Amino acid sequence: MQANEDYRTIKNICCIGAGYVGGPTMAVMADKCPNIRVTVVDKDEKKINLWNSDNLDKLPVFEPFLSEIIKRTRFKNLFFSNDINNAIKNADMVFISVNTPIKTSGIGAGQASNLKWVESCARQIGEAAEGYTIVVEKSTLPVKTAQTIKDILSFYSLSSQGSQDKIKFSILSNPEFLSEGSAINDLENPDRVLIGGEDQIAVNKLKDIYFNWIPSEKIICTNLWSSELSKLISNAFLAQRISSINSVAAICEESGADVREVSKAIGSDRRIGKEFLNAGPGFGGSCFKKDVLNLVYLCRHFGLEEVANYWEQVVLINSWNQRRIYKIIVQKLFGNIAGKKLAVFGYAFKANTNDTRESPSRAIIKSLLSEEAIIAIHDPKVFESQISNELEEDLTKIKINNASKNKMWTFSRDIYETVKGADAIIILTEWDMYSNLNWEKISSLMRHPAWVFDTRSIVNKVEVRTSGINFWRIGGSN
Ligand code: UDX
Ligand code: ADP
Repeated sequence: MQANEDYRTIKNICCIGAGYVGGPTMAVMADKCPNIRVTVVDKDEKKINLWNSDNLDKLPVFEPFLSEIIKRTRFKNLFFSNDINNAIKNADMVFISVNTPIKTSGIGAGQASNLKWVESCARQIGEAAEGYTIVVEKSTLPVKTAQTIKDILSFYSLSSQGSQDKIKFSILSNPEFLSEGSAINDLENPDRVLIGGEDQIAVNKLKDIYFNWIPSEKIICTNLWSSELSKLISNAFLAQRISSINSVAAICEESGADVREVSKAIGSDRRIGKEFLNAGPGFGGSCFKKDVLNLVYLCRHFGLEEVANYWEQVVLINSWNQRRIYKIIVQKLFGNIAGKKLAVFGYAFKANTNDTRESPSRAIIKSLLSEEAIIAIHDPKVFESQISNELEEDLTKIKINNASKNKMWTFSRDIYETVKGADAIIILTEWDMYSNLNWEKISSLMRHPAWVFDTRSIVNKVEVRTSGINFWRIGGSN
């Protein structure tokens, strides 16, 4: 597109990154905008092949209702490809939706985001783009990342000055607020769409796309930095609520109160609200920990030590809560779990997703493995290969007898197989199926005295106890 054609509507979109954000977001965009051709690209060839697979059960992202949308749009106006340069070249608008995990070494290790993927995207866009191109940050990014992208792209604008096809870039921030497991509904009916940017033409073009299905009053426009910061703060507030209610759960267990009743009572106050008050094994997922730690890093950078300490506590409580649960399990099982079979129900970080990033299950399993327990895992959607990669990595870091490491965990999609001979069941993900189990049958398969540890409050305590199994629930008067 030529610079003087700035007012043309967007016809071609490219999204770099075909992951949990890029895949569902672009599927919904293609579904809602049949006149726009959407190409999602990724450097991971295997992932692209899975997105293109005839068998929709093989999509790399499991998300309710996603496969139906893919079926409607794929090969019509939604395409998945490895040809990144070509997709950028043809695009009027490029979304950056790549991963930004926490740095593991160097400056800011353990807190700052690793921006190498974003930077490499910016360079690739600079190399491949033709004409006026709007670049949209979709990934959650530290504040001021747009400046980095701007700086890189301005070099390419300058270097092409004088040529007929002068490149002009506009940078927008359009953070994603989808929550895994309900991503399709979140994308189709969002609470708000946030667009940050200075270039009004570019902002309007992005707004025009959303007008296809979002009412105008739900679209909030801000400057770039407010948009970037709002995303970080949204996640920090949500994470803070979970750490707050988990800390209350511990008080409930000591005082005879029930955290579910407390949540209901306080959530009825409109100023507090009833959402996001379920006590559990702590927050997981790719965003919360990373974003809160990013905020902490930012505060320290600005010399706001007290503010940094305040937010850091949200993450510290989360890890403390997981250690607390692990210690309760060990204590209830006579202080010894070595050689005992413990059934873990749920490995995904929450229900209705196959994502395992920062899953509380992984952290708690790691602690249990360090006590030489034998872990039998059940999860309806997570791939066994994913669990294997993660646990084998964790086992290399645990100092226990190497000979026993080979047979320390198993995986099954069969609940009854999982519980056979187990001393305890630990419910860590709130999959619906775990609320409707045949406890009589389970009890007959376990070794007694047996325990159920319900960290998600989804099981009927009376049914479990009647079947002869001891029961512990988070935040309950146990
Ligand atoms: C989150 C934000 O909700 C979303 O807006 C942002 O775009 C990405 O990060 P996600 O990580 O997919 O989404 O899931 P979310 O539903 O927020 O849950 C995060 C974690 O908190 C999960 O581990 C979940 O089990 C836990 N949680 C959530 C609770 O323990 N209790 C609750 O009441 C709610
Ligand atoms: P998110 O939850 O943010 O979507 P994912 O890890 O699920 O994170 O997806 C990010 C995707 O971005 C991965 O599939 C990764 O291969 C892809 N990716 C990262 N960097 C690049 C890049 N420079 N070019 C193309 N794809 C990239």
